[in-house]
Amino acid sequence: MKAIAVTPGKPNSVHLAELPMPSVREIPNGRGVLVRMLRVGVDGTDKEINAAEYGAAPEGFNFLVIGHEGFGQVEAVGPNVTEVEPGDYVVATVRRPGSSIYDLIGTNDMTTDDTYFERGINLRHGFLTEYYVDDVEYIVKVPQGLKEVGVLLEPMTVVQKGIQQAYEIQRRLRVWRPKKAAVMGAGTIGLLAALVLRLRGLDVTVFGKTAKPYLNSELIEALGARYESTSELSVLTGAQKYGPFDLIFEATGFSPIVFESMQALGKNGVLVLSSVTGGERTVEVPADKINLEFVLGNKVMVGTVNANREYFESGVRDMAQAAAQYPGWLNRLLTHPVKGLENYRALFEQLTNAKGAIKVFCEVAAL
Ligand code: BGC
Ligand code: ZN
Repeated sequence: MKAIAVTPGKPNSVHLAELPMPSVREIPNGRGVLVRMLRVGVDGTDKEINAAEYGAAPEGFNFLVIGHEGFGQVEAVGPNVTEVEPGDYVVATVRRPGSSIYDLIGTNDMTTDDTYFERGINLRHGFLTEYYVDDVEYIVKVPQGLKEVGVLLEPMTVVQKGIQQAYEIQRRLRVWRPKKAAVMGAGTIGLLAALVLRLRGLDVTVFGKTAKPYLNSELIEALGARYESTSELSVLTGAQKYGPFDLIFEATGFSPIVFESMQALGKNGVLVLSSVTGGERTVEVPADKINLEFVLGNKVMVGTVNANREYFESGVRDMAQAAAQYPGWLNRLLTHPVKGLENYRALFEQLTNAKGAIKVFCEVAAL
């Protein structure tokens, strides 16, 4: 069967690879699930893997099948699988356990191991292929009514984790009634963060680079949130106008914004950082001022990466709520479909150059 792969370490090496058809028997204890891929989203991570900035092949291979935002349908299950059955729509989590205590208790997303295993990213093949098998432990069911937007679940889980971690951290306050939130960045993650915060009833301001109106700002306004372009209003002025922010979710991919966000955060607030910034950018900041306000304001900043299955499950619930509360909204994020694994060049072309793209994804097979 076909798969889209890269040769790790070699820039722009994306190509079509050939893999044997997998079988549920590869998974121990009769717990295997064979999934037929329907749609796979791509993001900055795939771009950076193809640029050879990171990414490693599984042992015994000189290529890595990419794609970590999968959506598919169960084709067959092992004899000891009761959780899903053929025909069910499913998404698999990305990270597989290592050996730290966090991995052992099912929270692989919190691993302290230096080497981590992520399907489509590091040391494990991904989902840009026709079929995959995995342990049912890592497979999450998506209701039929969400099949059109199921490919958005993996990015949604990144947001779920960040926001739930923020609420968990804020239990330190005994009483925390967040009212105002800011989201930095209006890409897929920023849009989904705005959605989730609106579903929790917060007043949400999204800061983006592009001047409005454009699709992303319209989507934000359709949620009853506000969009501000940093070319017209600085984050700090925005915070004076619409803050103080109890929660800030950073998802721009541009690290200097972190230090502005630290200054825009209200007393007792929490700042969530989710951008994976592979570069080496440096920046000068008002360190005393930022530190002083953080100390005097009892503020928190937390990093978040990946997501374990509990966030996939809550992501499904929020997507269902979103479908009811903002019908058609999630579908509007699916801007750039590319049909067929064989069109991997077009997929990357869209990912790199498409104007106005929110989610670029491969239609591996018809829904
Ligand atoms: C993925 C996460 C992953 C992270 C770091 C992101 O693009 O969505 O699942 O943990 O990259 O590799
Ligand atoms: Zn990703």
